[in-house]
Parts: sequence; C-alpha cells; structure tokens
Amino acid sequence: MNAPLPAAAIEAASPHVLNTYARLPIALSHGQGVWLWDVNGNKYLDGLGGIAVNTLGHNHPRLVPALQDQLAKIIHSSNYYHVPNQEVLAAKLVELSGMSQVFFCNSGLEANEAALKLARKYGHDRGIERPEIVVYEKAFHGRSIATLSATGNEKIQKGFGPLVEGFVRVPLNNIAALQQATAARPNVVAVFLETIQGEGGVNPMRADYLQQVRQLCDERGWLLMIDEVQCGIGRSGKWFAHQWAGITPDVMPLAKGLGSGVPIGAVVVGPKAVGIFGPGNHGTTFGGNPLAMRAGVETLRIMEEDGLVAHAGQMGALLQQGLRHELAGLSGVKEIRGQGLMLGIELARPCGELVGRAAKAGLMISVTADTVVRLLPPLIISADEVQQLVALLAPLIRQFLQESPQ
Ligand SMILES: Cc1ncc(COP(=O)(O)O)c(C=O)c1O
Repeated sequence: MNAPLPAAAIEAASPHVLNTYARLPIALSHGQGVWLWDVNGNKYLDGLGGIAVNTLGHNHPRLVPALQDQLAKIIHSSNYYHVPNQEVLAAKLVELSGMSQVFFCNSGLEANEAALKLARKYGHDRGIERPEIVVYEKAFHGRSIATLSATGNEKIQKGFGPLVEGFVRVPLNNIAALQQATAARPNVVAVFLETIQGEGGVNPMRADYLQQVRQLCDERGWLLMIDEVQCGIGRSGKWFAHQWAGITPDVMPLAKGLGSGVPIGAVVVGPKAVGIFGPGNHGTTFGGNPLAMRAGVETLRIMEEDGLVAHAGQMGALLQQGLRHELAGLSGVKEIRGQGLMLGIELARPCGELVGRAAKAGLMISVTADTVVRLLPPLIISADEVQQLVALLAPLIRQFLQESPQ
C-alpha cells in the first residue's frame, strides 16, 4: 500500500493551473520501463501508459539517447523547409498501413480536424456544398469544436454549443442503421469511426461490420476515415486495429503512441484522399517538427526491432486470460473486452473511485464511460508484469463489487 498522499499540499501547489482535470493527488517524478515513482517515493505499475501514449514505457534505453541526440541538433525548424525525418516517418507509416501519404500535426484532435477538413474538401471538390459525415454513438474524437461535435457524448458537449453541423450519428455495429440513416442523404461524403472506441468504453467494431462499411463506402464513393489515435500503433496486436478486419481506410488519424510521449499527430491518406489538400489548404507551426519526427522514427524502429506489435498481442491475451480467471463468476463484472493491450472491464455500476484506490495500491488505471475499468499499459510490459497487474487489480475489483453501492 502506498503512503498517504498529501492531496492538499499538491493541489495547493498549483493555484495558477486552470482547473480542467479532476486530478489524483499524485505528482510523478520519474519512471523506468512500466514503473513510475511519485515525488514521495511511492512506486506504481503503469497500467495506463499516459493514456495509450507511452508505447515504449519510461526512460527507454534506446529512445532517450536518440532524443538527446536530436535535442542537441535541432528541435524545431518550421515547415518553410524540408524536415528529412518527415519523409522517413511518412514512408514507414505508408509501408505499415498500405496507404499513400502523410500529413503531420501535434495531437489526436488535430489529426481528426485535418481528417474532417479533408472530408469536407472531398465533398466540395465533387460539387457538394454542404457535405455530411457519418459519426458514431459514444465516439470520442477530441475537444476542439469540430471534433467535439463529431464526438458522441452529450456530457462533454454540454455548454459548448452551437456545435459544428454536418454530422449524422449512427449506432455501432449496425449496418442496417447506417444504410437507413444515409438513404435520403445525398450529401454524405465520409464515415468516421474508431476501430475500438476508447473513451466511449473500449467498444470494438466487429470485423464483419468494418468490412460492410468498407464496401458501402466503395459503392457510394465515401471516404472511410478510421480514427486510430488510441487503438493504433501496435496496441491491438496489429500495427493498426482495423487490420484485424483485413480492410484499409482512406484516411487514418494517428497520435498518442506514435511518439512514445513526445507530442505528435499524423493523418495517413490512401489513394482516394491523395490530392485533396494542396499548398495553402492546411498547416501547423509545430507539426512535423524535427524532435517529434525523431521520436516517431525511433518509436517505430524500436517496435519493429523488438517485435513489440506481436508482443502486445501476446501480453494482451495473457492479461485478458488472467483477468477472466480472477474475475470469473463475479456477477458485477458485465464484460471483459478489447484487443491486445487495450482492455476494458465493464462493471455493473459506476466505478470511478477505483482509479484512486488502484493508485493507493500502486497501480495506474483509468475508468471511462463511468463503468469501464480501462487498461492501456506500455507495449513493453513483460509477462511477469502482466501477472503483477492482474494481482493488483483483481482484488480491488472484487472488494469493490462486494461493497454495497454508495
Ligand atoms: C480515439 C481518439 N481520438 C482523438 C483523441 C484526441 O486526442 P488528443 O487528446 O491528442 O487531442 C483521443 C484522445 O483520447 C482519442 O482517444
């Protein structure tokens, strides 16, 4: 059990930081592999990976020297000039995805904004003045006004209207509902989905559904835009989670795990979306900067050298197996789902307080969609560390479910 955390002291120490997060009273000082330490010396197993960001864990022995080398050379230069590693990283992403070209930005919402702009311009180029984009219930695409509008969560949209128009919302995994919702809508230009919804509660799209959507997009001339910001970059046990369904999108926003902690975003486009943007159509000051590009290049290189994609699949299977074994027969556990190292344990009642309890027990997790314990550990987690994760988490869930609801 970790020492009592000085909540008041840590909160009082940040009076000038805008209060947009219900933070835990913990300040982390450093990490090593999948382990983290706070400023009081308490140790945690990182089951969250900075929300699917720390692909290579903390203080990786090959990533850190590469970043140090880059820092001493050049951090930022601007897109007025060529950044050689943009081409290296873009070529790698093209190879891994089977797609064509890449635009670089700095975050997930920026990647999604670019995707939404691409879809609208795709429509305008075809004479559709008011293009519409199909989005999903429970989706999460970011917090800018456009990506918030595409997001399917009224709680986080509340207070920010008027939202951006031009979205048609449908339920997950229901091809008839998609056909029906779009039947009388000639202005639809794209379908925008997460292969495995993250913030919405770790909700996977079925492979057969993804194949049907791909087919529908082909028949109707729509762009299939797949947000792999959270489930991409090896986490699912394939480079991109949609690859389990054997399909290829036309537009794929990426971010989070691509830089192993250095902010980065990317939009990968296939042949149907090449040439939509030309000079002047889109841009960003920081996007594609030399530091982020080096982080992306080294992250993918290390992942390949160490076989981390297959490893994520194996460790994910082990994690799921361990959780299923430990939680078997508990009536308060509704479902354990997900793929690779993106797992959700849905409980029968809201369980947000488990986050703090887990931290006190030395484990970082998150709870999303009120009732889903979400695990997103670094891809370097070992089999032994997976067992430790299960051993820390299962008793907390068991204990929580034995208590009567507050
Ligand atoms: C699927 C998905 N898309 C987009 C975003 C937004 O990314 P960012 O927070 O980097 O803007 C997130 C963040 O959680 C996400 O999970």
